[in-house]
Amino acid sequence: MNPYEKLLLENKEWATEQVERDPEYFKRLEKIQTPQFLWIGCSDSRVPADRITGTQPGEIFVHRNIANLVINTDVNLLSVLDYAVNHLKVKHIIVCGHYGCGGVKASMSNTDLKYVLNMWLRNIKDVQRLYREELFAIENEEKRFDRLVELNVKEQVMNLAKTSIIQRSWANDHTPHLHGWVYGLKDGLIKPVFEMPAGTHIDPLYEYDIL
Ligand code: CO
Repeated sequence: MNPYEKLLLENKEWATEQVERDPEYFKRLEKIQTPQFLWIGCSDSRVPADRITGTQPGEIFVHRNIANLVINTDVNLLSVLDYAVNHLKVKHIIVCGHYGCGGVKASMSNTDLKYVLNMWLRNIKDVQRLYREELFAIENEEKRFDRLVELNVKEQVMNLAKTSIIQRSWANDHTPHLHGWVYGLKDGLIKPVFEMPAGTHIDPLYEYDIL
């Protein structure tokens, strides 16, 4: 059997099980999508958003990219954000990084990963530059890596708050609450590291006059 064929077989089994357990399952889900959460996570296959949070289909709207970055020219991410905030009206946005993140690790090296990856990971080098003093005071490389993962999540949450999408929603609806979390590959536990409740004051440089 081809490995991909196993996926299709597993899918059949899963769908059958769902209906056995709850005959109305798919009929109900088909009609409605009202997730309370938007999850912005890393593409890493070891960090499945729904599995690690025990959420069911319909409960969590998901966007994933390498190293869970929030880039203000990323039309893909901004479309997901706009839809989640303005149409789904999510109450919480979670940026979840993870210790041992390959993308963050790569940004700590000087290896030329060629054009596109260099471009993407440059954003994490900028995080390093912002926190240069704190980071390079940590002598243990593993600990510095862990701290950069946390600071990267914090910066990405702040990048969300810099968008007019979030600022307008905070001004008009006093929602959503922004969270920065880090998942541990070693123990499966999520550690909250940063948060911005709706209306949190941000650097005025980034504040729009929301009408
Ligand atoms: Co990662």
